[in-house]
Amino acid sequence: MATKTLDTKTGTAGTETASTSTTTSSGETAASKKTTSVDNATVNEDEMKSSPLHKFFVSALKDIYFAENAIIDALEKMQEAATTEELKEAFEDHQLQTKKHVSRLEKVFKLIDEKPEQKECKAIKGIIEEGEEIIKSTEEGSMTRDAALIIAAQKVEHYEIATYGGLAQLAITMGHDKAADLLEKTLQEEEDTDYDLTEIAETYINFDAEQED
Ligand SMILES: [Fe+2]
Ligand SMILES: [Fe+2]
Repeated sequence: MATKTLDTKTGTAGTETASTSTTTSSGETAASKKTTSVDNATVNEDEMKSSPLHKFFVSALKDIYFAENAIIDALEKMQEAATTEELKEAFEDHQLQTKKHVSRLEKVFKLIDEKPEQKECKAIKGIIEEGEEIIKSTEEGSMTRDAALIIAAQKVEHYEIATYGGLAQLAITMGHDKAADLLEKTLQEEEDTDYDLTEIAETYINFDAEQED
């Protein structure tokens, strides 16, 4: 609650509840720690920016910013390689969503007064490479290819879910309420996509794939 003062400083919202919660006496250590920083707003912001947790948060944002951009290209290839219309459409829809994720991340960078930069994410590169291997090693037009592509895509979603889930929680802890809302919105879309992919696999793909020689 005391961290709300950071929000007022950076010009973000999230101050509505702050005014009603300043009278607490239960979280005394946190409250007194923050009170000192309210006295000197500039020092407060500098302190925040040089804190190890803030640095990690920014670095992780750069990592997922790289990942989202790489995923846009990967989804294009997966869409072209997919056999069924249902899967092609799912990849197309999620590619559009992924473009929104990129612009949401740019807003998050802005909200915390940092520049949007990409930092190479080895994990997503590896997961995407696995998807490319699947395209090479499965027959074009086969349902087996779709079954395998779905799993490859779900590995991407799970990487994103882990990242956005953790970053949204950190944003809340650090008082970046608006940034947390944006990260949670993306998290929800990644979770929905993961669920939809399972539905597609079970409804249209897996049974037919099992029949293939
Ligand atoms: Fe995404
Ligand atoms: Fe995604």
